[in-house]
Amino acid sequence: MAIKCTISEVGRHVEQTVTIGAWVHNKRSSGKIQFLQLRDGSGYIQGVVVKSEVPEQVWDDAKSLTQESSLYVTGVIREEPRSQSGYELTVTGVEIIHLTENYPITPKEHGVDFLMDHRHLWLRAPKQRAILLIRAQIIRAVQQFFDSNGFTKVDPPILTPSSAEGTTELFHIKYFDEDAFLTQSGQLYMEAAAMALGKVYSFGPTFRAEKSKTRRHLIEFWMIEPEMAFVDLDESLRIQEQFVSYVVQSVLENCRKELETIGRDISKLENITGEFPRITYDEAIEFLQGQGFDIPWGEDFGAPHETAIAESYDKPVFITHYPASIKAFYMKPDPNRPEVVLCADMIAPEGYGEIIGGSQRIDDPALMEQRFTEHNLAKEAYQWYMDLRTYGTVPHSGFGLGLERTVAWICGLDHVRETIPFPRMLYRLYP
Ligand code: 4AD
Ligand code: MG
Repeated sequence: MAIKCTISEVGRHVEQTVTIGAWVHNKRSSGKIQFLQLRDGSGYIQGVVVKSEVPEQVWDDAKSLTQESSLYVTGVIREEPRSQSGYELTVTGVEIIHLTENYPITPKEHGVDFLMDHRHLWLRAPKQRAILLIRAQIIRAVQQFFDSNGFTKVDPPILTPSSAEGTTELFHIKYFDEDAFLTQSGQLYMEAAAMALGKVYSFGPTFRAEKSKTRRHLIEFWMIEPEMAFVDLDESLRIQEQFVSYVVQSVLENCRKELETIGRDISKLENITGEFPRITYDEAIEFLQGQGFDIPWGEDFGAPHETAIAESYDKPVFITHYPASIKAFYMKPDPNRPEVVLCADMIAPEGYGEIIGGSQRIDDPALMEQRFTEHNLAKEAYQWYMDLRTYGTVPHSGFGLGLERTVAWICGLDHVRETIPFPRMLYRLYP
């Protein structure tokens, strides 16, 4: 009896007969030998069918296999140092499950729109699989980092009665007779959680009805949002650089093969450790103006500005102390200079743009009230948030890391659409 195993497990079964459920990734033949490139999700292995060594039926069945046909294949595992996996399968039996006809994604080049329309199948391609494995490793590393540094994972709601990050990008839905919105950020709820648990983090989907069609914007994206009581901006930046370094190093340690599959230049990732450079918004403006950008003080940065700034560094860079007028209502003003706020964006190297937005939060009840008025926010909807200042207010800080931009950077991808299994973008809701 053959042992049933996955391709990732074949190393334990050298010289034994195994059965593997697989798909045909590719196939070539040289008359008397057929080479089946097989995949099962866990890995790849080459199956070798030798005409003179198998019953005629097995030879014919193997011959009928097409790209993405599914089968149970039986054979003996051999060590094969020349193959990428280190093993090869000498096929003795083939049980066809389904013969696929006209698989749309052939080995030739396809346009992006075509591939996006077939995203459900495109996921089977080696590069897309590698990206999803790296994404999973990033998520694992995020949780390891926070779980081992005294943070508790807390889940904020997805359906919310009010806005966290500004009212123009909200997805409106009906909540029985009330109006509700899909969450843009769990932050406000995480602030409540930090007052209960000290150091907390969330990981969940967020939604923004942004009419931006860029390589950095998704309508639905996943965010990691830590929030910390009794922590100021400076302490938060220390945690952020340790956190991002940990995630990058953990991908380097655990995903070598996948990084190779997607062709990532890993020398660019190896020095993501230690302290990250910091510049103020003022210094950034001065630098940009020196580079010939026509950008006045008080304006927000766009992608070209972020890219120009990032080019000076081989690590992520923090831009701190933005003007209050271009940042969210909850950010704490700098006590020495109230027109700027105690905030920082982390800009990834190589033109990947902002991956983290964060700040110290307003803890003064009177100032919080004033901001609600200035920003025209309905006080009733934020009464609970105000309570966090009314009852035992403390200095606190937090930040949000965008998962997909982080995956794009670590994988070296041109566009965030390949960083999430089923991207939701402007004009794309299918599949
Ligand atoms: O800078 P943002 O808007 O910050 C917040 O939402 C804060 N409430 C976070 C916090 O302090 N808890 O978003 C945080 C990050 C950005 O730096 C970016 O990486 C990502 O979320 N992001 C997007 N990623 C993909 N598509 C979009 N449309 C994104 N908008 C933001
Ligand atoms: Mg931001």
